[in-house]
Amino acid sequence: MSEKKFKAIYGTRDIMPNEAPTWGRVIDTVSRLASDCGYGFIHPPIFEATELFARGIGEATDIVSKEMYTFKDQGDRSLTLRPEGTASVVRAYLEHSLGAKEGLVKVWYAGPMFRQERPQAGRLRQFYQFGVEAIGSLNPALDAEVIDLNYRILSALGLDGMRVFINSIGMAEDRQAHKRAFSAFVEPILDKFCADCQRRFQTNPLRMFDCKEKGCQALLTDAPIILDYLSEDNRAHFEQVQQYLLKTGVPFNVDKRLVRGLDYYTRTAWEIRSDKLGSQDSLSGGGRYDLLVEQLGGPPTPGIGFAAGIERIIMAMPESRRAAKTVRQGVFVVAASEQYRPQAYFLAHRIRHIGAAAETDYLGRSMKGQMKQADRSGLNFAVILAENEMSGGRVIIKDLVNSKQFEVELVKLMNIQSMMQLGELLEQSE
Ligand code: HAM
Repeated sequence: MSEKKFKAIYGTRDIMPNEAPTWGRVIDTVSRLASDCGYGFIHPPIFEATELFARGIGEATDIVSKEMYTFKDQGDRSLTLRPEGTASVVRAYLEHSLGAKEGLVKVWYAGPMFRQERPQAGRLRQFYQFGVEAIGSLNPALDAEVIDLNYRILSALGLDGMRVFINSIGMAEDRQAHKRAFSAFVEPILDKFCADCQRRFQTNPLRMFDCKEKGCQALLTDAPIILDYLSEDNRAHFEQVQQYLLKTGVPFNVDKRLVRGLDYYTRTAWEIRSDKLGSQDSLSGGGRYDLLVEQLGGPPTPGIGFAAGIERIIMAMPESRRAAKTVRQGVFVVAASEQYRPQAYFLAHRIRHIGAAAETDYLGRSMKGQMKQADRSGLNFAVILAENEMSGGRVIIKDLVNSKQFEVELVKLMNIQSMMQLGELLEQSE
């Protein structure tokens, strides 16, 4: 019998070390631009009580009704791997009374999310998001700041071919009025819609606008849209958001049919789509959730945020931004003959001890093989322990970036005490 070969679970993938520089760049960019606007990092747990998502995201949503990874723990508690980050952030906001300490709470996060969707290009069952949440203000300028931050992060990562779509989906009262008109429009032709739309008509008719079937979209061409049912205040809010965005210089389109797949949204909603991706073209999505804090047991508190899918961002990145190899400051220690391997090990150890990067070979490679490995390592110097030079107590230093080489005394390297001293020794190649 052949042995079972383990594979990553369908819809999940390994992020490999060669992809790490690109992932690192995404996280660094988010961290820098989000903290420039005052967002602090938050890292909530990966699983929460199932009830949090059921109440926060909504029982009738696709996410809660059919995509959650829910399990019982040994104590018979129902837990769920988080399908998104907003509900957890609001839970943390309430649990730590963050609102009482600061009027406006701004946080960002990054990490894995889990949804049991049908996997395809750009759609995974474990995927990574970064996101931001700003809780405590209804000011339309904040909507503009968050949308601008979303757009600037993606631009700073080199993405082009992006389009920003915004809409307002109002508050519950606006949606009630719209729902009546929408139902009156759809009901007589309901049997012409796909099964999914017919189900949505019962649970959340607005989501019919989100159907990917061309036939269903054609049937909705003249359907009433929510923008026509906004209250005076909500219409004014949306107007002001657009004014701020215009002045901020974020290019946007109003998409009157944009609806979001999570029930907590109110007023402003947006998506940034890429023309570099196939059917899964949404890079990021967000909106206001002005009732969520209250729904999860807190005082009435408005909130707004977005999340972006890291795999999709990397897929949409231009090749030049993705593959860039980074040079690391440090040395690769090469033992040109067997007898110097212990010294190579101790020299690498010594150099790491002062805080610099150092690697050496553990596979008994030839001198040529070690030099190749040194090149692959991305380190900028090789220190070569070779017979001729070692007999005179010296080693060869090779600058791997510009191929220059020179010699230094081994004892100087072995007694190195600080990064500064190492820098001075290596600078001789200049
Ligand atoms: P969402 O639209 O469900 O919103 O997800 C945001 C982004 O996550 C999507 O635009 C997409 O890039 C990525 N994404 C979603 N599902 C998958 C998947 N199965 N595979 C790969 N990528 C995926 C939210 O999650 C909200 N929590 C956003 C938010 C924050 N709203 C307010 N604050």
